[in-house]
Amino acid sequence: MAFRARILGAAAGGGLPQWNCGCTNCTLARQGKIPAQSQSSLAVTGNGIDWAVLNASPDIRTQLIGTPALHPTGQRELPLASVLVTNGDIDHVAGLLTLREMQPFTLFATDGIHDVLTRNPIFDALNADVVTRQTIALDTPFPLAPDLTATLFPVPGKVPLYLEGDTVQTDLMGEQTVGVELRAGGTNAFYIPGCALLPSQLAARLDGADIVFFDGTLWRDDEMQTTGVGTKTGKRMGHMSISGTDGAVEAFKTLKIKRKIFVHMNNTNPVLRPDSAERQLAEASGWTIGQDGMEVRP
Ligand code: MLT
Ligand code: MN
Ligand code: ZN
Repeated sequence: MAFRARILGAAAGGGLPQWNCGCTNCTLARQGKIPAQSQSSLAVTGNGIDWAVLNASPDIRTQLIGTPALHPTGQRELPLASVLVTNGDIDHVAGLLTLREMQPFTLFATDGIHDVLTRNPIFDALNADVVTRQTIALDTPFPLAPDLTATLFPVPGKVPLYLEGDTVQTDLMGEQTVGVELRAGGTNAFYIPGCALLPSQLAARLDGADIVFFDGTLWRDDEMQTTGVGTKTGKRMGHMSISGTDGAVEAFKTLKIKRKIFVHMNNTNPVLRPDSAERQLAEASGWTIGQDGMEVRP
């Protein structure tokens, strides 16, 4: 009986390589020179038998096929107890459509995120007679799977891209973007794939944790511009960068956390190249760069 996590997808939306991208990393991944990464998802268990999937990425079909611990144990029996989504972003909810085959599981989210799904009738493909949608209040522990307790808490973020209006607040604290605290046995772990900044209250929450999976979308705030793939900054997308004085490495420096792992890397991020200077810097600061299939135990 112990906490265990498996990274199903370490990349941000688009994955590595992204279908339409010819950037350095995507080209190297296509050539097999650096590992490809699928889109953002983490599987967790508290007892090694029953699993929860945190975020249902568009790659979930391949991710589940590649994860023996989540394979069916009978005709239609599955170790998957539940799915939890941390926001309404496409890379975190599109995979729900793949899970539509009349398979019972509980779908956990805040009221605000459930509302986004309810307003998109395509998600009715998850038959309500079979898939139970359960609303979770912030800061209230609940059983995510047998022997695994979770608590959702707000982290600075924004509404999904497809719901953005003319003006966008990128550091909203509410139900639209949440982090997950996981407790199993004596272990506490956190999963925060999207976070715009680290206010002191959030830093205090993470201090002393055994494991933190954290937003590693970009190395630099202007990375999309400098690599020539886009015009948006990380801040505009609601993601704090890894480097810089207002980046994650700096923000976590004084926190006592046993294992710090970046997830949700955008395909432009130089840390996705195992031999890059940026990756050595992140690792020298005590961080691990997440990778598809990586098993994490306390
Ligand atoms: C994000 O993480 O910022 C979103 O997944 C972007 C998107 O929806 O493509
Ligand atoms: Mn994303
Ligand atoms: Zn690319």
